[in-house]
Amino acid sequence: MAGLLRRTLPRFSLTLTVLLSCSCPVLGKKKLYIGALFPMSGGWPGGQACLPAAQMALDLVNSRTDILPDYELELIHYDSMCDPGEATKLLYDLLYTEPIKIVLMPGCSSVSTLVAEAARMWNLIVLSYGSSSPALSNRQRFPTFFRTHPSATLHNPTRVQLFQKWKWTKIATIQQTTEVFTSTLDDLEERVKEAGIEISVRQSFLSDPAVAVKNLKRQDARIIVGLFYETEARKVFCEVYKEKLYGKKYVWFLIGWYADNWFKIKDPSINCTVEQMTEAVEGHVTTEIVMLNPETVRGASNLTSQEFIAQLMSKLGGKNPEETGGFQEAPLAYDAVWALALALNKTVGPLKAKGHRLEDFNYNNRDITAEIYRAMNTSSFEGVSGHVVFDAQGSRMAWTLIEQLQGGSYKKIGYYDSTKGNLSWYGNDKWIGEAYSSSSPPSFSLSLSLLLLLPAVLLQLHPLPL
Ligand SMILES: *[C@@H]1O[C@H](CO)[C@@H](O)[C@H](O)[C@H]1NC(C)=O
Ligand SMILES: *[C@@H]1O[C@H](CO)[C@@H](O)[C@H](O)[C@H]1NC(C)=O
Ligand SMILES: *[C@@H]1O[C@H](CO)[C@@H](O)[C@H](O)[C@H]1NC(C)=O
Ligand SMILES: *[C@@H]1O[C@H](CO)[C@@H](O)[C@H](O)[C@H]1NC(C)=O
Ligand SMILES: *[C@@H]1O[C@H](CO)[C@@H](O)[C@H](O)[C@H]1NC(C)=O
Repeated sequence: MAGLLRRTLPRFSLTLTVLLSCSCPVLGKKKLYIGALFPMSGGWPGGQACLPAAQMALDLVNSRTDILPDYELELIHYDSMCDPGEATKLLYDLLYTEPIKIVLMPGCSSVSTLVAEAARMWNLIVLSYGSSSPALSNRQRFPTFFRTHPSATLHNPTRVQLFQKWKWTKIATIQQTTEVFTSTLDDLEERVKEAGIEISVRQSFLSDPAVAVKNLKRQDARIIVGLFYETEARKVFCEVYKEKLYGKKYVWFLIGWYADNWFKIKDPSINCTVEQMTEAVEGHVTTEIVMLNPETVRGASNLTSQEFIAQLMSKLGGKNPEETGGFQEAPLAYDAVWALALALNKTVGPLKAKGHRLEDFNYNNRDITAEIYRAMNTSSFEGVSGHVVFDAQGSRMAWTLIEQLQGGSYKKIGYYDSTKGNLSWYGNDKWIGEAYSSSSPPSFSLSLSLLLLLPAVLLQLHPLPL
């Protein structure tokens, strides 16, 4: 496929260049096209809320006189269904039909992987609003990739900080054997070792965790880090209940994406009661990416995060946010369009100095791509999802929220700012065991109390695996 595309490229793009330079502007504004893939169905139907959010951002950008005043951004989008096979076909359409796209915006890790790997051959920048796979943090394989969604490994520095805070020196792990958890655990293991913490037991399972849980018990694991999806989490904790691997002597730290009441959901694959499950999961700790700016600030788009949510809800026309795919990630899609617009705006001056213009972009032009890359690489603005900056691999840096299940519901116990390496603590973590309590004083800050004031629904919607 890739070979075929490459072979037919030069002749075709020559034709496109000619066509583009002839399509003379009607209203004085030249159009720049974004080629986007929004999954409306499939494993993560995130386009349902992310597409309207991106369109909101686009309307605002186009109406601003201080951003790209000579240009109008237009979105050309298809439904990838979160399926790499379907996305291959759509990518072909995006690249081989006019007009020329200046950037590609995919969502879903599997689709972003495909797009980001192919894009280098077309000198295209790729900007994803919804991909968490750690594998995408790889500048060799994906040299032009950026994402406003943080990598799943973003939490790892937070986790190590917590382990150190609680003076854990020896931990056990149990993981579901899936790429995202394996790469997350590999990264965590490296960081944990640097911090002088030992991983004494490492267990894994494909779909039935019974044996792995029994092994944890046999090897006397006490502090257990678990990495699995919600469905598997229920199976694990039903086994944990049967093996009595919970309570005073044990601490569980979960890595995954869980709904608030995941352990109460009726599941024919387990035979534990809700009461038994609730007993087994009590006290566990988990972390979550903060995707909505907890502070009331007017960022680059002059909208606060609360105003953004209100406008998005009205755009969704009364649809239930909990039943709208990608509602939680919508701020990331909105900020992705802003990151792009601000970056393109930043290139206008430098390009002019070199005798180039954005509208001269074609798939053979590396100079313009390099300029856009540089501008994206140095992004730094206040968005509705928080401060937007990318790390050296193009992944978003963001805050993580730390939660503990107390009395059957999740309580916020602190948060971590990975750009500053700063752990802020409420001091309300509770430990039934004797050995693991933390004794540091609570440290409230202004932003922390604002975090507390946020409507619970906005922060409590746990992310879906992307
Ligand atoms: C867009 O770029 C121009 C200079 O080319 C600059 O004056 C303006 O402040 C930029 N707009 C924003 C919102 O940064
Ligand atoms: C659950 O099922 C297993 C066998 O699948 C059985 O041994 C066990 O007793 C059952 N537990 C309960 C609480 O029904
Ligand atoms: C930003 O929004 C506020 C409230 O809607 C408005 O009063 C203000 O004029 C806006 N600022 C700019 C620069 O558009
Ligand atoms: C992008 O930023 C990173 C630091 O985050 C820097 O090391 C790298 O050189 C920059 N790349 C370019 C092309 O400017
Ligand atoms: C860390 O966070 C606390 C509370 O939010 C704040 O007072 C402190 O200045 C921060 N430190 C750094 C280095 O940013």
